[in-house]
Amino acid sequence: MFLRDKNKHFLYFRFMILVTGGTGLVGAHLLYQLSLENDAVKAIHRKNSNLLAVKNVFSYFSADYESLFQKIEWIEADITDVISLETAFKNVTEVYHAAALVSFNSRDYKTMDEINIEGTSNMVNFCIANHIKKLCFVSSVATIEKSVTNKFMTEADEWNMEKISYGYAMTKYGAEMEVWRASQEGVPVVIVNPGIILGAGFWHQGSGSIFSKIHSGLSFYSEGVMGFVSVNDVVKAMVLLMKSDIVNERYILVAENSSFKDVFYQIAQNFERKVPSIKVTKLMSAIGWRLEKLKSILKNNPPMLTKHAAKSIHDKRYYSSEKIQTELNFNFEPISETIKNVCELYKKQFK
Ligand SMILES: NC(=O)c1ccc[n+]([C@@H]2O[C@H](COP(=O)([O-])OP(=O)(O)OC[C@H]3O[C@@H](n4cnc5c(N)ncnc54)[C@H](OP(=O)(O)O)[C@@H]3O)[C@@H](O)[C@H]2O)c1
Repeated sequence: MFLRDKNKHFLYFRFMILVTGGTGLVGAHLLYQLSLENDAVKAIHRKNSNLLAVKNVFSYFSADYESLFQKIEWIEADITDVISLETAFKNVTEVYHAAALVSFNSRDYKTMDEINIEGTSNMVNFCIANHIKKLCFVSSVATIEKSVTNKFMTEADEWNMEKISYGYAMTKYGAEMEVWRASQEGVPVVIVNPGIILGAGFWHQGSGSIFSKIHSGLSFYSEGVMGFVSVNDVVKAMVLLMKSDIVNERYILVAENSSFKDVFYQIAQNFERKVPSIKVTKLMSAIGWRLEKLKSILKNNPPMLTKHAAKSIHDKRYYSSEKIQTELNFNFEPISETIKNVCELYKKQFK
């Protein structure tokens, strides 16, 4: 495909890639990776998205970050707005769909339904209509249910609507169903199911806020276990899967199953801060989410602790990433290394 640059010169590109969620943790790191390659890359952003935060991520990794950032063509679009997507999809051959609303607040359920399910449905319809060569969707381990036979959950452990009923998991599951619809309509797809993603740059939202909270002296920890993965590995796996011949498969991305206590301790130690010293018991979290709910109703703010989060911090969930390790010979970065690198970037930014 030929496109013209700013000086009206013709440039040849094999692929025109469209990225959603480019102004979030996964999308920003993905855009940096894609900017190093020779494909044309478009990314959508909403009116109030923070593009400077994305440029800041680029600056972590390259002195030439300004020119790499310039390679991205930004288009204002919302995945719930079909008309804006029409423009975004012009000439697109491949799609990475990472946009979503991640929330454990029950008040956000309706919006999550609109963004995560209806938004993905819109993306899928455009992928079908535009005969997209391949679609990569970022799902979550939230759509994978505890295995009845094994300690470790795998891609084969199907989600069970009767067992899990929190909004985020339901909407990510609904989004996966839309992506499988795309595959049935002839669009080759790959889905990744990451655990909690650790990465730099979005220190006050989502999983990025774990670092800023511990830096500010968070005192609480739990002994619940969850899968963790570096954002670098998530992005690496997405790009490798898109370049591979693999289609219509999903892959768990978990480098290690660790306790929150262990991860929080390691972050505190890297920051040379006191490690969190108060173990959250089930009783404490049961009281905590109720108090937070009351506070959020009185102050009309989102609660700091939701009912679902209060329960899940005690859960011990173990995931297996053997499928991607075997099929792509994929090696995950140890979580201790991820934590060390992310803490270094945090310290550099706020020194
Ligand atoms: N972070 C984790 O630990 C984790 C773990 C497992 C799976 N995931 C999945 O990974 C993906 C990326 O997560 P993240 O942590 O990078 O999320 P994030 O930092 O919260 O970013 C969310 C992104 O989605 C965009 N977005 C939200 N609603 C949109 C809409 N209506 N139209 C267009 N864009 C919209 C946001 O744009 P604005 O900048 O305009 O808000 C932002 O770019 C999500 O699908 C999430 O479910 C995340």
